[in-house]
Amino acid sequence: MSDKKTFYITTPIYYPSDKLHIGHAYTTVAADAMARFKRLTGYDVMFLTGTDEHGQKIERLAREKGVTPKEYVDNIVAGIKELWKLMDISYDDFIRTTEERHEKVVQKIFKKLYDQGDIYKGEYQGWYCTPCESFWTERQLVDGKCPDCGRKVELVKEEAYFFKLSKYQQQLIEYIESHDEFIQPPSRKNEMLNNFLRPGLEDLCVSRTSFKWGIPVPFDDKHVVYVWIDALSNYITALGYMTDADEKYRKYWPADVHLVGKEIVRFHTIIWPIMLMALGEPLPKQVFGHGWLVLEGGKMSKSKGNVVDPVVLVERYGVDAIRYFLLREVPFGADGVFSNEALLNRINSDLVNDLGNLVNRTIAMVDRYFDGLIPQPAQLEDVDMELRQLAVSIPSRVEQLMDRFEFSNALAEIWKLIGRANKYIDETTPWVLAKDPSKRSRLGTVLYNLSECLRMISVLVSPFMTRTPGKICQQLGIRDESLTTWDSLAEFGKLPPGTRVQRGEVIFPRLDVEKELKELEEIQQRAKQASQSNSETHTAAKEEARAADGAVQQERQDDCQQKQEANQISIDDFAKLDLRVARVVSAEAVEKSNKLLKLTLEVGGETRQVVSGIAKYYTPEQLVGKKVILVANLKPAKLMGIVSEGMILAATDDKGNLALLTVDHDIASGSKIS
Ligand code: MSP
Repeated sequence: MSDKKTFYITTPIYYPSDKLHIGHAYTTVAADAMARFKRLTGYDVMFLTGTDEHGQKIERLAREKGVTPKEYVDNIVAGIKELWKLMDISYDDFIRTTEERHEKVVQKIFKKLYDQGDIYKGEYQGWYCTPCESFWTERQLVDGKCPDCGRKVELVKEEAYFFKLSKYQQQLIEYIESHDEFIQPPSRKNEMLNNFLRPGLEDLCVSRTSFKWGIPVPFDDKHVVYVWIDALSNYITALGYMTDADEKYRKYWPADVHLVGKEIVRFHTIIWPIMLMALGEPLPKQVFGHGWLVLEGGKMSKSKGNVVDPVVLVERYGVDAIRYFLLREVPFGADGVFSNEALLNRINSDLVNDLGNLVNRTIAMVDRYFDGLIPQPAQLEDVDMELRQLAVSIPSRVEQLMDRFEFSNALAEIWKLIGRANKYIDETTPWVLAKDPSKRSRLGTVLYNLSECLRMISVLVSPFMTRTPGKICQQLGIRDESLTTWDSLAEFGKLPPGTRVQRGEVIFPRLDVEKELKELEEIQQRAKQASQSNSETHTAAKEEARAADGAVQQERQDDCQQKQEANQISIDDFAKLDLRVARVVSAEAVEKSNKLLKLTLEVGGETRQVVSGIAKYYTPEQLVGKKVILVANLKPAKLMGIVSEGMILAATDDKGNLALLTVDHDIASGSKIS
């Protein structure tokens, strides 16, 4: 057995969605970079990912497609594996929650917790909408009705199993308080303690009888195990926990880090550690909650049709450019906005200008001035010493930053060396040295230093980029693997003079940003239209809205908060609205509509016709003479065949009341609102 230090890293296991987007790829690329970094720096790494395949949603989607849930997920999981292959994800194991090795152990875990009294049978109470077959909590109802279809709901009670979270609450609080590294970044730790743990935990309902697609409770098969108990267990079932073949469990557990998106930190730092405490097993050393990659209009979501497809990007720009962008653009703990423009600019500046040029210039000069053979370095000058010192100082700084999951800063550190090397070319002007035969040995020193820097850079970037290091090494003519190890970075000068370089293709071709932007927008627009007309998407969106458990509810709240942040507008955006005071001159009902009224408005000297859905709240008579607020520059639209030239503003509350906005005291119609 090897005596290397172990490092166990996991991603969340993914819901089988037929289109994983760039946000999903973000978690996995980050985990992959970390796994590669740890392998490079001498660890025995176990990197686990997989799929979370049970639940009511899958059962329904499969039924609608006329296939069994297993057939449904098999198909999708194959696609997910393809995506990870495309993104060069070097996982050591891929666990599916429908595999026997997982299901059996989840049943054992459930039984053990039941036998020791931590899981008990009780009664679940909630609201049920029969036509929608959905459970709702009190909070989710709208006016006491089903939030989905608006029909009556009934109070139902059904037997269910509960997990005694409350019993372990204090123990968990103490653990979190005394282990600062457990929840990272620290803001998420405070959020968990203040928002969830200190206010008190309720026992968790851990079985369902309303659907079948789950792992049966081993001693009561009317029930299936709650998806989060099922899913979280993957981190140990994949290691053979509770089986005879548990070597991996003994070797790798506790995990060094579970990497998860911020919305599921809660499950990983409350339910999961309590499960482990109850099982008498050690807790993972760290749960790292990273931020979301959002689009300018809010969080990516398939139901909104605003997802960015990683396959399109990888096929156009290559896997390394996408991996680099994901890890460089946004500090890992924080949310970040994904935009095509930012991606293209990063590629052109960091990859084409900085790294690509350095490779090109160096290899071309060795080729031209030394017939393709890396020259021997001679006497060093101050500028050389400075470059060399910087080069050897980078690895330890990168290591420190990686240990804190600061991918972006680690890359910035590597780019300092790239930037310095480019500047070194400008300072030493090899093309001038080349004209003077007495400077030949100086020229050799300069080009040696540059070539060695390139070799070091190729090793440094290898956890982040999977293809570029090989291309650099090929151009440098490196065949000896000992020159690509982390240890080989300890001192400057490992690259043997005399190595024959091999000029190759430019590693990152320059992009025409305008052209690319246009094409990407067209592709993304087409995909959005396709997804909107795809009935499966509609079903998925509906299913999303139907999901009845509190966990999903919380996710949705987070999503809302996220949307609010991402939807903030600037004063310039607001200035695009032409809001005017308008006087209602006349109002009449619209034929065959019990919602719409047709209003004639006076706006300054102008007359406008506006159709408004306020018939249930105002009679025409009540409106005449009122001064209302008109969005005057809204594109005209036809409602029930009548052209509406603008929209009047009204407030609604969640009880269904509506009040028109009007002015505080009389002011001329046509007055501008700002
Ligand atoms: N199945 C659960 C996890 C169970 S783990 C025991 C799940 N799956 S998921 O497919 O919805 O999400 C997988 C990962 O992708 C999560 O970490 C989630 O945060 C991440 N992301 C999904 N959309 C994302 C962005 N837009 N940005 C960044 N990460 C995102 O949750």
